[in-house]
Amino acid sequence: MASLYADAVLSELQPAKVSFFSVKAGESFKTLQTVETMYSAFVKFGLDRKSVVLALGGGVVGDMAGFAASTYMRGIQFAQAPTTLLSQVDASVGGKLGVDFMGAKNLIGVFCQPAFVYINTSTLRTLPPEQFSSGMAEVIKHGLALDADYLNSLKAAKEKIKAMEPQALKEAIEGSCRIKSNIVAQDERETGIRELLNFGHTSGHAVESLSGFALPHGHAVAIGMVAAMSLSASRGLIAESEIEDACQLLSYFGLPLKADASPDKVFEMMRLDKKSKGGEIHAVLLEKIGKAFTCVPSKDELFLAIGRICG
Ligand SMILES: NC(=O)c1ccc[n+]([C@@H]2O[C@H](COP(=O)([O-])OP(=O)(O)OC[C@H]3O[C@@H](n4cnc5c(N)ncnc54)[C@H](O)[C@@H]3O)[C@@H](O)[C@H]2O)c1
Ligand SMILES: [Zn+2]
Repeated sequence: MASLYADAVLSELQPAKVSFFSVKAGESFKTLQTVETMYSAFVKFGLDRKSVVLALGGGVVGDMAGFAASTYMRGIQFAQAPTTLLSQVDASVGGKLGVDFMGAKNLIGVFCQPAFVYINTSTLRTLPPEQFSSGMAEVIKHGLALDADYLNSLKAAKEKIKAMEPQALKEAIEGSCRIKSNIVAQDERETGIRELLNFGHTSGHAVESLSGFALPHGHAVAIGMVAAMSLSASRGLIAESEIEDACQLLSYFGLPLKADASPDKVFEMMRLDKKSKGGEIHAVLLEKIGKAFTCVPSKDELFLAIGRICG
């Protein structure tokens, strides 16, 4: 990724004094060891409290470089330049930073807001298609869980978004950032309403883990949203036709609706998830399209919903 955009960014930042450091790509490098290499580079470059770290890359780089900056010298300024759709609409918004530890995702980290986020949508043109669709799952999630008007605007512009027309992309990304930042502003540290952003993530995380992380995150979230919607429908909150409608949009962007996993295993994995409290599985359901709420569904309800996404 650095080979694609680093030169352009470096020349854009001239004549400021800029130093450049790159890390290996991928979740497996989202570790304290990589952060340590960042600290070493900061020392070598002579960064001080007036320096700014710019994280250029996907969510892995953003979470990790932001964490390194906000802990170096008790915190220096950092900015994000996210280059994947997922990081533009999700990871770069909200100030959650950190690394994985002992096999647990994002176990070590801090909350700290960037000085600014710079999004250049043209970087999405070099993204592998499955990374683009993965980001689209979070975009659609924002509409389904929090804003029906936004969801309708996505449906209306779906061809243009898929074709990556700049204006359509800009509007979709801006809308998502607005929805997420509005929630974060009310609950920065996830003690309440921010949980709604986990719509699709309860069973989503389970199928993602069961695939051995072969399933891209957003693909797992798409499947999780189908389960959450079907649970909502079983309570008579939303109509089957609304699920069909949402599924059509997910499929249009190449997202799966089913996982290759057994219902028992998905349930067990959900129970083990760190977000399940005292063995209770907390789910995010839809009161209606565009309005989510949290609850603790019964085991029967969960099995009914999981059944729909397995096989
Ligand atoms: N902080 C948060 O609130 C938050 C929210 C959601 C996700 N996350 C984190 O974000 C991470 C996932 O982020 P991601 O999906 O961006 O994955 P990623 O950072 O691993 O990037 C995916 C791949 O795409 C490459 N890449 C990046 N930009 C590219 C471009 N423009 N063209 C071609 N290739 C490019 C990267 O080098 C990498 O190989 C996870 O670690 C997750 O925990 C954090
Ligand atoms: Zn997610």
